[in-house]
Amino acid sequence: MAKTALVTGATDGVGRVVARTLGKDGWRVLVHGRDRERGETLVKDRLDLLINNAGIGTAGNGRQTSADGHELRFAVNYLAGFLLTYELLPLVKAAAPSRIVNVSSAGQQAIDFSDVMLTKGYSGVAAYCQSKLAQILFTVDLAEELKGSGVIVNALHPSTYMNTTMVRRAGVSPMSKVETGAEAILQLAVSPKVEGKSGLYFNVMNEARANPQAYDVAARRKLKALSLELTGAKA
Ligand SMILES: NC(=O)c1ccc[n+]([C@@H]2O[C@H](COP(=O)([O-])OP(=O)(O)OC[C@H]3O[C@@H](n4cnc5c(N)ncnc54)[C@H](OP(=O)(O)O)[C@@H]3O)[C@@H](O)[C@H]2O)c1
Repeated sequence: MAKTALVTGATDGVGRVVARTLGKDGWRVLVHGRDRERGETLVKDRLDLLINNAGIGTAGNGRQTSADGHELRFAVNYLAGFLLTYELLPLVKAAAPSRIVNVSSAGQQAIDFSDVMLTKGYSGVAAYCQSKLAQILFTVDLAEELKGSGVIVNALHPSTYMNTTMVRRAGVSPMSKVETGAEAILQLAVSPKVEGKSGLYFNVMNEARANPQAYDVAARRKLKALSLELTGAKA
């Protein structure tokens, strides 16, 4: 039977290339757009690979909030993947050996726990970088939790300024191709080189150190408690 992958944000950019490549390689790929039906099909299946890729970049007209009232980049780039992962974890565990990939970024900023929702001195760059580091804290934490389960979880910076919608919207001249980022994501998703490795951060193809807050146990604990409270996820 074909293996099954869910790629969030598969309707554009690097997620689209990753979904297409997995499809060509014989995977059954559940592409996530903003479509409820696909999600509902998913819960009946086993799941070998979850790629939390959907995200919003730095550009925008000031601070925005999600329908739940959370700062929008924190909600879409981090909290959504956090909740989705816990909702799907029983399926991912049932399919072990299986993998989770969190598509983060080299743009990282320590979370200020006194103002996580960035109500003061908002900037799109700060919001983006905070949400991207939150994904890495989550990755390190989840890897601990999943020890011995056969599920590995890793995070990465896929590539710098790929030619995608979010980069063009930020008014930045693209510096790399989506194929470069897709290759890096696919390494964490399927390569035997990553077997048994978990809780790591990769800068494109190589293991790297993330912002120091990722290795601060107390910060990770705080973020997890806050995320459970904000999403209602059952960890
Ligand atoms: N581009 C880079 O150089 C770069 C560098 C570092 C990290 N990354 C990371 O790579 C990932 C993919 O980015 P990309 O460059 O491929 O961006 P992109 O081309 O702008 O694609 C973003 C994807 O996320 C989806 N998305 C955006 N907002 C959403 C929302 N509110 N709810 C659900 N889905 C939403 C989009 O859906 P629609 O098609 O419906 O808009 C699209 O499929 C992101 O996590 C980004 O932070 C990118």
